[in-house]
Amino acid sequence: MHQAIVIGSNGGIGAACVQQLKSTQHQVWTLSRSNQASDHHRVFRDDEVSIHRVAKNLVNSIDDKPVRHLIIATGVLHTETIKPEKRLEDLCSASTQAVFAANTWLPLAWLQALLPLLQKQADCRVSVLSARVGSIGDNRLGGWYSYRASKAALNMMLQTAAIELARRAKGVKLIAFHPGTTDTRLSEPFQANVPEHKLFSPSFVAGRLLEVAQQQRLDGTLSFVDWNGQTVDW
Ligand SMILES: NC(=O)c1ccc[n+]([C@@H]2O[C@H](COP(=O)([O-])OP(=O)(O)OC[C@H]3O[C@@H](n4cnc5c(N)ncnc54)[C@H](OP(=O)(O)O)[C@@H]3O)[C@@H](O)[C@H]2O)c1
Repeated sequence: MHQAIVIGSNGGIGAACVQQLKSTQHQVWTLSRSNQASDHHRVFRDDEVSIHRVAKNLVNSIDDKPVRHLIIATGVLHTETIKPEKRLEDLCSASTQAVFAANTWLPLAWLQALLPLLQKQADCRVSVLSARVGSIGDNRLGGWYSYRASKAALNMMLQTAAIELARRAKGVKLIAFHPGTTDTRLSEPFQANVPEHKLFSPSFVAGRLLEVAQQQRLDGTLSFVDWNGQTVDW
C-alpha cells in the first residue's frame, strides 16, 4: 500500500483529497490544527516548534515506507478579522502578515520539517495548493492584495525549493496547484458571480489534483499547473 500525507485535512479540498487517496488504496496520514490525534492523524499548531515536533513523529511513524503523495492544502483568504482588500485604504499590516504566515511561510515550514522524509523518496509528488490569482502576469482585475501577493511569494519559495531539492531530494516533484474555484469555506463568500459550471466540487478537484500530479515528470523543476493540467503563467 502506498503512503500519502495530507496537511490541512480538515479543509474542503484537503478532506476531499483524503477521501480520494483512501479510495485508491493509499494509507493516508492526515494533519490539521483541529480534530483529535489518532493512529494516522496528527494535530499541529502553526508555529515552528510544533511543526518540527509533529513532523519528527510522523517521519518516525512512516519509517522507510515510500510516500507517493504529500499534499499541502492549507491556506487562508478571509477570517472573522481578515477581509481581502479591495483598495489601498484596506491594507493593514497585521492582516497582511497573518495571510503571509499561513499562505507563504507555513507550506515551506512543512517542507523544511519533512526534508528528512523527502530525501528518502524515489517517486514522491509534493502538491502545494497555490492559486491563479498569485500569477503576476495574469493579474488584470487587481484587489485581494495580501492573498495574491502571498501566493506569488509562495510560488517563488517553491521555485527556490525546487532548485535545492533537485540536488538534495532527487525523487521529489514539486507542484504548485491551482484548483479552480472550488466550493469550500474559503470561496463561499465570493461564489455569487461564479457560473455554476465553473464552481467545482472538492471531490472533482481532488481527483484532478491526483491525476495532474501523477502526470508530472520527475524533472527537478516546479510545475505551476491548474486542475486541467495546463501550465499557469508566473
Ligand atoms: N476554494 C477555492 O476556490 C480555491 C481557489 C484557489 C486556491 N485555493 C487554495 O486551496 C487551498 C485549500 O483551500 P480550501 O478551498 O480547501 O479552503 P478551506 O476549506 O477553508 O481549507 C483551508 C484549510 O487551511 C487551514 N488553515 C488556514 N489557516 C491556517 C493556518 N494559519 N495554519 C494551519 N492551517 C491553516 C484550515 O485549517 P482549519 O480547518 O484548522 O481552519 C483548513 O483546513 C488554499 O491554499 C487555497 O488558497 C482554493
